[in-house]
Amino acid sequence: MNQQSIEITRMIINDVDEIVSIENSTFPVPWSRDVFLRELQIPESRNLVAKAHKNQSKEIAGYVIYWVIAGEVQIHKIAVRENSRKSGIASRIMAEVLRCSREEGALSCTLEVGQSNENAKKLYEKFGFTVIEVRKKYYHESGDDALVMCLDLKP
Ligand SMILES: CC(C)(COP(=O)(O)OP(=O)(O)OC[C@H]1O[C@@H](n2cnc3c(N)ncnc32)[C@H](O)[C@@H]1OP(=O)(O)O)[C@@H](O)C(=O)NCCC(=O)NCCS
Repeated sequence: MNQQSIEITRMIINDVDEIVSIENSTFPVPWSRDVFLRELQIPESRNLVAKAHKNQSKEIAGYVIYWVIAGEVQIHKIAVRENSRKSGIASRIMAEVLRCSREEGALSCTLEVGQSNENAKKLYEKFGFTVIEVRKKYYHESGDDALVMCLDLKP
């Protein structure tokens, strides 16, 4: 996919059905429609979508949900539609998260990732995240350990 045809915008209610469909095909324990709708109401929650222009229409290719609390960014969810992966979309989304977070004065960014999730780990390492903690058997459904990763955002 041509990266030029991707735009990153704030998530709106009309995006939620498409997001839920990506969510359901991506995660073993997906967030429900209601959870996404609630996120849109929470003041600390920031929500972005990557829209791919295809012919005359737009398709959601990926999304992120993160919170900013007391100067700390917590990335809760990032996903890219399966047939759009490995073309830099998550990198575009992540770059925008970090740009917006620095702009609003956030000092650090943390996230959790499954030890066996190589693609996500590579994405985060590429942006400079490092492992600060290992939570053993954190994910009940897989028994996978969680890595807590952190990035310093201080200027
Ligand atoms: C993790 C995920 C969001 C990455 O999305 P993506 O759009 O494919 O990521 P990008 O194309 O921006 O790639 C980012 C980096 O990750 C690495 N990478 C991503 N997918 C890869 C793959 N399949 N094989 C090898 N490396 C990969 C590369 O290092 C890449 O950087 P580079 O190509 O510039 O060197 C996507 O795989 C996904 O949605 N996975 C399922 C949901 C998930 O696991 N979310 C994270 C939960 S913590």
